[in-house]
Amino acid sequence: MARLTPDNVVRAQELVALYPEKRSALIPILHVLQEQDGYLSEDGMLHVGEIVGLEAVEVKGTASFYDMFHFEPVGKYLVAVCTNIACMLQGAYRLLEHAEEALGVAPGGTTADGMFTLEDAECLALCGNAPCLTVNWRFFGDVDPEGFDVLVDDLRAGRLEAEVPPHGTLSRVGRRQGLRALPPGGPGRDEAALAGEDGAGGDGMAAAHVAPGSAIDLSTRRSTAATAVVDAAHLESPK
Ligand code: FES
Repeated sequence: MARLTPDNVVRAQELVALYPEKRSALIPILHVLQEQDGYLSEDGMLHVGEIVGLEAVEVKGTASFYDMFHFEPVGKYLVAVCTNIACMLQGAYRLLEHAEEALGVAPGGTTADGMFTLEDAECLALCGNAPCLTVNWRFFGDVDPEGFDVLVDDLRAGRLEAEVPPHGTLSRVGRRQGLRALPPGGPGRDEAALAGEDGAGGDGMAAAHVAPGSAIDLSTRRSTAATAVVDAAHLESPK
């Protein structure tokens, strides 16, 4: 896949309509592209640049600043093992070494069957459950080598497809709509603000528009919501 599909062009246009400047929609649309292909292809970035009025070099120059974007194909499951201080003290390097042996690849490598790409990650903000890792940005805490093997087996067998979507998928809940378009009687602005501003399919933002009965992906919404609550408390505390 190279350029955005017709459906994703519609999504991109919806995102552009949220901003006074077209180029402000760049990052959310890049997430749409990554969700489509699993990474950002050169042709895909060219197409996104056409939509937001930027040169390809500006698109790539911006995207390359962000750790979540990949510029080459990655495995179906992107496994990022945190080796920052809290996890390191709890055995992260032992876990990473075990992951390397179990998958047969070094960090940055992808297994021959295309199932797994292994990464050595900085703090994933789950220090309280160190050592931890993410799979396609879904959190798994208190992971020991035995737990890692069980996780890999479950992923290979497809037993976690409900919890771990394909790489690039930020949310399966719904699409972003403008905060100004919140329906009367729907979620209030506070809830919408808490839901986040993360663009195309971001966890929190989509949660403000959850259809009745939809499943919310709590594993990723949790960190967004918790951060917003902490930020709000900080802003309200007496100086
Ligand atoms: S140090 Fe590993 S999640 Fe923070």
